[in-house]
Amino acid sequence: MSTPTIPQFGVIGYPIHHSKSPIIHNAAFRQTGIAGNYSAIEVPPNALPELFARLRDQTRSDSLRGVNVTVPLKQAVIPFLDQLSPEAQEIGAVNTILNQNGVLFGTNTDAPGFVKSLRDDFHFSCPGARVSIIGAGGSARAIAVGLKRAGAQAITIINRSESSASELKSSLVSSNFWVDCHLPNTPDSIKALAESDLIVQTTSVGMSPSSDISPISDFSWVHSNQLVIDIIYAPETTLFLQTCADKGAATGNGMGMLLAQAALAFELFSGIPAPLLTMRKAFYEQ
Ligand code: ATR
Repeated sequence: MSTPTIPQFGVIGYPIHHSKSPIIHNAAFRQTGIAGNYSAIEVPPNALPELFARLRDQTRSDSLRGVNVTVPLKQAVIPFLDQLSPEAQEIGAVNTILNQNGVLFGTNTDAPGFVKSLRDDFHFSCPGARVSIIGAGGSARAIAVGLKRAGAQAITIINRSESSASELKSSLVSSNFWVDCHLPNTPDSIKALAESDLIVQTTSVGMSPSSDISPISDFSWVHSNQLVIDIIYAPETTLFLQTCADKGAATGNGMGMLLAQAALAFELFSGIPAPLLTMRKAFYEQ
């Protein structure tokens, strides 16, 4: 079989039709003149062996040079890989896979993407930061690991169920780093939120079409020296984010993280700096 003339990339997930990644990455390939084509590939978990055959064998006519990975496959792909980056290992999830001269390498650009967006989009410096994270799922874990690796001083996890919060807490514990967890709307969680420089909302609560709900009902803690990020980007402003903005906090939605993780993945795929403005424009114009 012959290798495709244009290197093929894609995003795998199940379902995947909603993904904006093809628009963002194809715009970047066009703008930079790097040969590459990026598509959305629906992969039910039981079809992973066939997908990995396409990634491993670069002589196939349908071979894939690299892929991004989304829900529900971020953990399921790990046993198929030859090498994991330290970030992916610590998070326990992979969102980018690359065939590097025959070695299948998996990494996670969600965590460094979030930190990059804080720095580039909000001029927020992570070393020494005190952070509260609302939610304790996969996104919370990636963000917590990213912030910890970037030098944050303390993280409080605020989650409706104690079990997932304490599980995340115990996986983060290390020296020179303080981590705790509380239930939402309790005096302890309100104190932690008030003392935080950065608050990150990572649950799906408030996402379209349920945009009239918020994971937090007590907003007495918000003040103007805080940056509040909600990783939801549809709607652009959740009820949670709007309430924090109304009370004077600086705010940002999930677009920054989405674009930054895509930019870091594009750099791995192409070997050159990502055309961020083109990628942002492609997303908004689709
Ligand atoms: P993701 O991978 O996108 O982070 P996830 O792993 O399913 O998604 O995690 C979702 C997080 O949002 C969890 O912390 C979940 O709380 P539980 O640990 O109690 O399940 C939180 N979450 C989801 N729906 C919620 C709701 N209606 N109210 C409060 N928290 C919610």
